[in-house]
Amino acid sequence: MTLRTALVTGAARGIGLATTKLFLREGWKVAMIDRDAPALEEAAAGLENALPIVCDVSKPDEVDAAIGEVAGTHGGLDALVNNAGVADFGPIEETDFARWRRVMETNLDGVFLMSQAATPALKASRGSIVNIASISGLRASTLRVAYGTSKAAVIQLTRQQAAELGEYGIRANCVCPGPVRTKLAMAVHTPEIIAAYHDAIPLNRYGSEDEIAEVIVFLCSPKASYVTGQIVASDGGFESTGVGLPALRGQA
Ligand SMILES: NC(=O)c1ccc[n+]([C@@H]2O[C@H](COP(=O)([O-])OP(=O)(O)OC[C@H]3O[C@@H](n4cnc5c(N)ncnc54)[C@H](O)[C@@H]3O)[C@@H](O)[C@H]2O)c1
Repeated sequence: MTLRTALVTGAARGIGLATTKLFLREGWKVAMIDRDAPALEEAAAGLENALPIVCDVSKPDEVDAAIGEVAGTHGGLDALVNNAGVADFGPIEETDFARWRRVMETNLDGVFLMSQAATPALKASRGSIVNIASISGLRASTLRVAYGTSKAAVIQLTRQQAAELGEYGIRANCVCPGPVRTKLAMAVHTPEIIAAYHDAIPLNRYGSEDEIAEVIVFLCSPKASYVTGQIVASDGGFESTGVGLPALRGQA
């Protein structure tokens, strides 16, 4: 039996690497895309059926070459996971155009470019796309003028893809993680930030990379064959609580 092939962007660490490893455990081949060559090489070392490809998803020529390598040389593509993202937070007045573009070129342009380049291969396989947005695309909060706007656009882009590509059998869905306990997040989140997130989230905790990966891999699998155009928050209930006042807990 030929293995199904997934392409995961931002696969050198964090959610992308956890997703890669879950696909591999479930018997898929994975093209691991990242622009950080040394980190990608280290992450892919020893992973059977993983194909690391250095590529910046914001650069059209690099995107075309990477998709060509996966779809042409390696025999097709069944799932595209647009996970590469730049988390750069700052006040509106300090977000100059260069910073805005730095966020948009990966978080939004990258999703558009990868998906467009992969469409012929996904048509051939009647495959699927999963875009990774964020709770920050569903709710506004401070310091996220570029990041939150890019992620809200990814949510709409997913719906556009579902609407237009459905007739070719291509499904497109979006996963919106809440705060995830990645090494990086834990390094920059102060104890106050961690406590505040715990307070605001009904499940009272951060998510793990593996919990997000499970949702992504499910949406790419035949188990989700009639699911498209959906925006799935994997966030411990964060988004559902419009006025989740911690002070009111336990008084219902
Ligand atoms: N970690 C969280 O709490 C959280 C919450 C909500 C959403 N997300 C989203 O989930 C995704 C993954 O997050 P993470 O925390 O695992 O990120 P991370 O920073 O740990 O890893 C991101 C990876 O993407 C790569 N990358 C960045 N720009 C790229 C580009 N232009 N081309 C190719 N590779 C590029 C980086 O080199 C890195 O390896 C992102 O889209 C992020 O916005 C994360």
